[in-house]
Amino acid sequence: MEELRPGEAERLVFGHTGRSPLFQNLLLLLWTLLSCGLGVTAQGPGEWTPWGSWTRCSSSCGRGVSVRSRHCIRFPGEELCWGDSHEYRLCQLPDCPPEAMPFRDLQCALYNGRPVLGTQKTYQWVPFHGAPNQCDLNCLAEGHAFYHSFGRVLDGTPCSPGAQGLCVAGRCLKAGCDGVLGSGVLEDRCGLCGGANDSCLFVQRVFRDAGAFAGYWNVTLIPVGARHIRVAQRSRNHLALMGGDGRYVLNGNWAVSPPGTYEAAGTHVVYTRASGPEETLQAAGPTSQDLLLQVLLQEPNPGVQFEFWLPQERYGPFQAQAQALGWPLRQPQPREVEPQSPESPAGPARVPTLAPDPCPPCPDTRGRAHRLLHYCGSDFVFQAHVLGRHRQAQETRYEVRILLIYKNRSPLRTREYVWAPGHCPCPPLAPHQEYLLAAQRLVSPDGTRDRLLLPHAGYARPWSPAEDSRARLAAQRCPV
Ligand SMILES: *[C@@H]1O[C@H](CO)[C@@H](O)[C@H](O)[C@H]1NC(C)=O
Ligand SMILES: *[C@@H]1O[C@H](CO)[C@@H](O)[C@H](O)[C@H]1NC(C)=O
Repeated sequence: MEELRPGEAERLVFGHTGRSPLFQNLLLLLWTLLSCGLGVTAQGPGEWTPWGSWTRCSSSCGRGVSVRSRHCIRFPGEELCWGDSHEYRLCQLPDCPPEAMPFRDLQCALYNGRPVLGTQKTYQWVPFHGAPNQCDLNCLAEGHAFYHSFGRVLDGTPCSPGAQGLCVAGRCLKAGCDGVLGSGVLEDRCGLCGGANDSCLFVQRVFRDAGAFAGYWNVTLIPVGARHIRVAQRSRNHLALMGGDGRYVLNGNWAVSPPGTYEAAGTHVVYTRASGPEETLQAAGPTSQDLLLQVLLQEPNPGVQFEFWLPQERYGPFQAQAQALGWPLRQPQPREVEPQSPESPAGPARVPTLAPDPCPPCPDTRGRAHRLLHYCGSDFVFQAHVLGRHRQAQETRYEVRILLIYKNRSPLRTREYVWAPGHCPCPPLAPHQEYLLAAQRLVSPDGTRDRLLLPHAGYARPWSPAEDSRARLAAQRCPV
């Protein structure tokens, strides 16, 4: 292990014996003398020698640092050179064997059994990570309640176990995408190191289509090569993702997958679901194959917001394909994106507010007698969640999910349509709400239509535990 000495900054280096070629220095000197002769003043900064070569990697396995240096040549009266005299670069050797002692442990262990702290006492030392400067060699005396700081760790020591940063000259530095520690150079959204996001295109839309029926709806194709994919929606619907092979990555086949990280198209897809209810999908990409984003509707779609970055050459085919499939990708953008609430800057668009209901008020249908009449006279009594409402000329169709059955004369499925007469049925059912409903079975004379009917002024009460007890009570009172 070679210890790097970054401290020897800008110094005059005439007669310098290091790596920088003497010839270069002489040329520089000549140039400077000539410049003076031509009347150029000797003010301003000095000149750097060219960079020396990179040193060997500081470690023998795993990650380490390599350094190169240059020297500042200046005359009296000249300022210091601008910039750094040393540059550190990440070097990556094959992984260390699992039994190898971590670099920091090794440095602490150097003090094992040696008298330190000015006494003859000796200790066994192990790294201590609770001290303020993580690039100091803080070691804990095993079996004792103190640690000692033995100065800086060697360059190339990880700042903390599992962290990305490495200690260099006592500072914790992360490598930029150019591999230079502390350069701060980042990969742009197109995957180009130090790029300006201009070699790819940003796709950002809100999918608001999808009709009334529950099930899977195509939202968008996410073409191969996509990066920085983010999808969010806020409702009880579920995002679903299908791979290029037609197999679901998550939330397929009507089964809800647990939140977590999924492997798909050569990238990790992070799926989160909050009780909000809110769902997000995120993947860094680039994807190695097409993905199909869908939404599994259980209630009206308030909007699925998605975005990703696409290589330029993929954008044309993507647009063409989307248009050919008639997918709603031609919405004007980015005006479709609604302002976001400040507490969730990256959250999905909000549910649009609905126009006021133009229906006249309904007659009052509360009361025990009314409940008893409908409970006992109905074919079905159940607790239902209203998923959607579809108004037609003569009748209204609700799509409901049946949560609890109190009474049924024939089997009920989990999802049913409940029909109510008229455009403004009474009592009205609001989407997303839960009700206790009493319904009739209505079979048309020719037997082709078998429906659940919620009669006018029938029984539909917002569901509550109290309502549940009343329904159970009513059940005992029906004439047999
Ligand atoms: C690239 O885009 C990202 C996200 O919009 C932004 O944070 C970043 O600053 C952009 N980079 C450049 C170099 O413009
Ligand atoms: C959704 O997209 C897939 C893949 O292109 C296609 O096979 C399927 O027919 C689409 N489904 C609908 C309902 O458009």
